[in-house]
Amino acid sequence: MSKIIGIGKANISTTMSNEEWGAYVQTDDTWIRTRTGIESRHISERSTTALAVEAARVAVEQSGLSAEQIGLIIVATISADQMMPSTAASVQAAIGATDAMTFDLNAACTGFIAAFNTAQQFLANDVYEYALVIGAEQLSSVIDWSDRNTCVLFGDGAGAVLIQRSLCFLAGEVFTRGDEMGVLTLGAKGKNPYIQMNGKEVFKFATSVLTSCIERAIMRAKITEEAIDWIIPHQANKRIIEYVAKKQKIPIEKFVLNLNRYGNTSAASIPLALVDAAPNFKSGDKILLIGFGGGLTWGYSLIEWSE
Ligand code: ACO
Repeated sequence: MSKIIGIGKANISTTMSNEEWGAYVQTDDTWIRTRTGIESRHISERSTTALAVEAARVAVEQSGLSAEQIGLIIVATISADQMMPSTAASVQAAIGATDAMTFDLNAACTGFIAAFNTAQQFLANDVYEYALVIGAEQLSSVIDWSDRNTCVLFGDGAGAVLIQRSLCFLAGEVFTRGDEMGVLTLGAKGKNPYIQMNGKEVFKFATSVLTSCIERAIMRAKITEEAIDWIIPHQANKRIIEYVAKKQKIPIEKFVLNLNRYGNTSAASIPLALVDAAPNFKSGDKILLIGFGGGLTWGYSLIEWSE
């Protein structure tokens, strides 16, 4: 069982508006805004590692812990700067978490949820007392800047959460449908180096798994839908979220939405939304985090907020 004791994000000063994409591809603000809800995104000259380190430093500082107390660091990312060593090892060195086990985790836009649920197992089994879970992406380095179908959707960012073993993890699951891997891809070793997707298939997939995550979380935690105070979905597209809110008859105000300012930051989107919305949370609030993305993967973590 776990409690969040520190949160942090990387501050990226450079923003890119929808209009600015017009210099690269044939597009316009109205198309992007109405199809996705995105108004601007951050584009970082700093690497995924640098963003992860900054978010981690803020979370550790906020917690009041010393970095040596951290037992585990997981970085969820699809835009690591190198295959080896892991981004998490670089974070360990940069923040001085000398005793931490480290690894990167790739579950695409579900990455933060998979990492959070994994960390939870180590804490629940008394292996570690503190775990640092980070979602970090420099997606501007893995998009095709000449493909308007994808480039306008993504942004850079990093968010981090420092978790302590105690009482607040209510339920969590992660699923994969590897037979549909072609729907969303990003190659490596020089092959297909850009994100590619079938947008319509992703839309159908996303709306269906968001609904099923809500239903499964309620069933697993033995609570009602009304008992959930906040839902933090992966920030891919406003229309996906509005569709699910309407279908499930959940007030849209319960959904945390910040994609208008960040675009889709893949594994970073959920911790970024959590950091931004945290000032509104009260002790005892039940918060459902839901991720979905390449793999295809999807999953959720249901937590209770405590201050
Ligand atoms: N600007 C202007 N026109 C564009 C752009 C653009 N940036 N991108 C595509 N178009 C054009 C297409 O070329 C097409 O033109 P055509 O009719 O002349 O061929 C037209 O717009 C319609 O394209 P559609 O793909 O049918 O547009 P759609 O309404 O489906 O919207 C979108 C596309 C936004 C991607 C939608 O399918 C969607 O929301 N899908 C969900 C996918 C998503 O959010 N992915 C995020 C990443 S994956 C993840 O995080 C899990």
